[in-house]
Amino acid sequence: MVVPQRQGEANPTQMGVEEKVRKTLAELGVNDSPGVESLFAELRKAAKEERAQLIARGAANQPQRERLCKALRDRWLARKGGFLSQVDEKWLKPAGKDLKPVVGRQFNELRRFVTDLEFEKLLEALPLQQEASPQTELVLNAVGTARPAPRDITLPGLRRPLGSLHPVIRMQREIEEIFLRLGFWIESGPEIESTYYNFDALNIPESHPSRDDWDTFYIDSKTVLRTHTSPVQIRAMEKYGAPLYIIIPGKCYRHDNPDSTHSPMFHQIEGLAIDQDITFADLKGTLDFFAKMLFGEKVRTRFQPSFFPFTEPSGEVAVSCFVCGGQGCRVCKESGWIELMGCGMVHPQVLRNGGIDPDKHCGWAFGLGVDRFAMVKHDINDIQLFFQGDVRFLEQFR
Ligand code: PHE
Repeated sequence: MVVPQRQGEANPTQMGVEEKVRKTLAELGVNDSPGVESLFAELRKAAKEERAQLIARGAANQPQRERLCKALRDRWLARKGGFLSQVDEKWLKPAGKDLKPVVGRQFNELRRFVTDLEFEKLLEALPLQQEASPQTELVLNAVGTARPAPRDITLPGLRRPLGSLHPVIRMQREIEEIFLRLGFWIESGPEIESTYYNFDALNIPESHPSRDDWDTFYIDSKTVLRTHTSPVQIRAMEKYGAPLYIIIPGKCYRHDNPDSTHSPMFHQIEGLAIDQDITFADLKGTLDFFAKMLFGEKVRTRFQPSFFPFTEPSGEVAVSCFVCGGQGCRVCKESGWIELMGCGMVHPQVLRNGGIDPDKHCGWAFGLGVDRFAMVKHDINDIQLFFQGDVRFLEQFR
């Protein structure tokens, strides 16, 4: 804002401290308590800054150190001509009846404030910097002006705040930990995938709705952004054969409009166990153990029939709500159960597509949404929060 000025009148906001203490309050145009208070606040600030500036500059040797400290002390506290005595002469003594009490009070406070800054003590505190000698000598005159201080390498450095793992990745690691302990290893595959691995090899026929343009991002007619981590089942079977115990964490993509439970990019973890004589009981036992490791000993698991083209039979796994114990609450949407994942025995045709003989080997698979797990675990009601990069949200997961 530009304040219009009368000719010949100095603008008080642009005046330095030196200049202000040489004028009376009337000359400065200060005629009320708030004005007086802000004037004194300015002086206190200046005193503090000058002290800090001197410390930042340091001194080259002991004699200079003494001279600098004395100069700063005198500038403020000298009986003759120090800022405080000038304030006494120019502001306090001539102040009118109305303003005198507030000026008096402020003056006492300023004196206490400056005394508390203990300029004399700087004599010990002022760092000696051998190399700074020629510049530092200038400080005698420069104290109180805005000259930038030479860099003081003895000051503590700027600290770069440490980041932390994203809550989804943290959840992923927690799940990985459990399966690594069971002897699974971690496998990965491409996010840009062929329709063969993403659909055909998994027994997903041409007519299946998930292959529709409205459900899948097509790069060209034979290439998609993978819609699940299941294609890596086939890739791993081709690469390693049987037996196979792997989990496959990774990003997946679906043509979903973002809302509180959907995101076009999300995270899955696939599990796959292939060996001889693997049964549905192994699947149930493993997933029950997994749920108890993640949500606590007390939870129970529930398996309900379902359908996936690449598993037969297929199931949906739910866990009893670890918040309410199954009574019904906000987290389980009053149902007592939390849906966790899809699973099933690997379809014989899928084994064949991966180069494994279904007469010799069999296995199970599951697929779960990591984002959803993290939402349930931390009672987060909007999946979008994970992808907005808002530090206020992310900081809560250190
Ligand atoms: N791929 C399935 C999905 O994305 C999940 C799944 C994986 C189901 C493995 C069964 C076996 O919904």
